[in-house]
Amino acid sequence: TNIILLGPPGAGKGTQARHLTDARGMVQLSTGDMLRDAQSSGSEMGKKVADVIARGELVTDEIVIGLIREKLVEGAEGGFIFDGFPRTLGQADALGELLAEMGLTLDAVIEMAVDDSALVARITGRSTCGGCGEVYHDQTKPWPADGKCSNCGSTEVKRRADDNEESLKTRLMEYYKKTSPLLGYYYAKGDLQSVDGLQNMDAVKADIAAVLAE
Ligand code: AP5
Ligand code: ZN
Repeated sequence: TNIILLGPPGAGKGTQARHLTDARGMVQLSTGDMLRDAQSSGSEMGKKVADVIARGELVTDEIVIGLIREKLVEGAEGGFIFDGFPRTLGQADALGELLAEMGLTLDAVIEMAVDDSALVARITGRSTCGGCGEVYHDQTKPWPADGKCSNCGSTEVKRRADDNEESLKTRLMEYYKKTSPLLGYYYAKGDLQSVDGLQNMDAVKADIAAVLAE
């Protein structure tokens, strides 16, 4: 099964993708994570994109399509979860071509629908584990009281440079200008399914499982 999780920043794409990885052995392809890895490894590309990401703008199609192509070649037995990709119509066309080249199909595009007003709280409360990438939230999924990640035991709490109100405004604007047209694009192809991303994490999880069972 190959799926796209589509939604604005803070919709819960990464949270649900990690769950699907654990539960179904799917492989999460998050272009955001790949770009942040490139930054921490200090590569030329990582340096080039750092400011763009911190401001909340999109990096070029060329860069992210290249990252995805590399990963697709490696294959995935449980299927791929595209998380944060595609984000432009050009990326969507490129993904269609890449999948066709590899003999793969896209089984569903799952829209995670949320209100804009919920996103500020989601984003400004987020932290991730430096050890394993588990996603936490100050209110809805706080760090365990002993300060250790429940998944890997690490005590390293990371916050993203673009998780502030100013950058979030830009990220939302980018989403509405460049990414939201993909909803119509995939609707027209007959691939679009929508889940209510405002529910709690377990309810969202159940709705996605129901879509995948169809
Ligand atoms: P990226 O890393 O993809 O960030 P994003 O799309 O802004 O998405 P987020 O990771 O912020 O949110 P999410 O939906 O995964 O939410 P999460 O599960 O963490 O991209 C970052 C940047 O990289 C971009 O701005 C761009 O510059 C660049 N980039 C990446 N891909 C690109 C591409 N394809 N093209 C061009 N540029 C690209 O949840 C958020 C918080 O809410 C967490 O704290 C979580 O615990 C909590 N939460 C989750 N679900 C729930 C729930 N149901 N109820 C309550 N709280 C919840
Ligand atoms: Zn951890």
